Amino acid sequence: MNDTFLKACRGEKTDYTPVWFMRQAGRYLPEYQAIRGKTTFLELCKNPELAVEVTLQPIDIFDMDAAILFSDILIPMEAMNLRLEFHEGRGPVFPDPIRCQKDVDELIIPDPDVTMDFVMETIRLLRRELKVPLIGFSGAPFTLATYLIEGGSSKVFLETKRMMFEAPELYHALMEKITECTSLYLQAQARAGAQALQIFDSWAGVLAPGDYQRFALPYVQSIIKDLRKVTDVPLIYFANNGATLLDYSKTAGADVLGLDWRINIKDAIKQAGNHALQGNLDPIALFSPKKVLEARIKRLLDDAAGAKGHIFNLGHGIVPQTPPDQAKIAVDAVHRFSGK
Ligand code: CP3
Repeated sequence: MNDTFLKACRGEKTDYTPVWFMRQAGRYLPEYQAIRGKTTFLELCKNPELAVEVTLQPIDIFDMDAAILFSDILIPMEAMNLRLEFHEGRGPVFPDPIRCQKDVDELIIPDPDVTMDFVMETIRLLRRELKVPLIGFSGAPFTLATYLIEGGSSKVFLETKRMMFEAPELYHALMEKITECTSLYLQAQARAGAQALQIFDSWAGVLAPGDYQRFALPYVQSIIKDLRKVTDVPLIYFANNGATLLDYSKTAGADVLGLDWRINIKDAIKQAGNHALQGNLDPIALFSPKKVLEARIKRLLDDAAGAKGHIFNLGHGIVPQTPPDQAKIAVDAVHRFSGK
């Protein structure tokens, strides 16, 4: 068992810098496309055997130091009683968005071991196969709420912010329910065998710091507080586009803070040095010539040298156009430069 990733999460000394990539299982891999060509994305998420197979693909191909469960942050939102569709080229769609108290009242808090047993089964199967740690995950309540309120992806988050500012009680009622669902869901993943848990706050960066503090952060803190009572697996909180939120996000209670590429990791160490840090190569840097890419990786490893623990990652998900060979160059460089 290679536990380098878990050691780095806990801030323990490691022989080399562990590496994995957000969205490491996905469309940039021809091996993923081959399976995805035969089924829809949601069916793939709900089929444990296939979900196991695509989770393992990047581990086998790139020698990653951690695996991330193949699923989606919106799976538990569907389990709350919402219709969820994925449209080619448009991403997730909720045809019946949440706009009023009645919509919130109709949401149920699912028992994750029943409604999302396919996720727990995927975790149990993966643990039998894997020789690196398995990361489970969820969305953060604010990020999940944006999809529910907007009815899908958004650019300006008009409906979400309007609800926050115009009907804060309604917004908070919705957040309470999403938080309870997410909390139970992550606890179930830990029971099923997930060895670390990451909370993705992909849209945190669209909020003003004061609004983040009032409308997003308390719900993440609540989930983490609940998790601490029942599990000691390392917890990772990734607030995307969060450089200006770091003084707040570091109070979430996580062991590890995920960083996007818009902050120098040296500055993050100064601000949040009592945490292990995960990140933070610009995903588009993977399109650089080999020498340029390697030099960037070397610089990032050097900048991260003072961290309490460093897990190498991209600053956000790998993009579908990335040539797999370039990902391979990056993983190998992280390992070689850090002494593996
Ligand atoms: O390898 C992994 O990281 C594990 C699997 C994973 C997926 N989604 C698979 C996926 C994880 C961890 C996620 C998280 C996720 N899902 C986030 C947070 C991370 C981030 O990128 O900010 C968000 C915001 C979502 C919601 C979501 N799912 C969107 C907006 C989209 C459409 C855009 C896109 O990238 O396609 C998805 C679809 C999705 N989730 C795909 C995959 C592999 C592509 C589906 C396909 O095969 O067509």
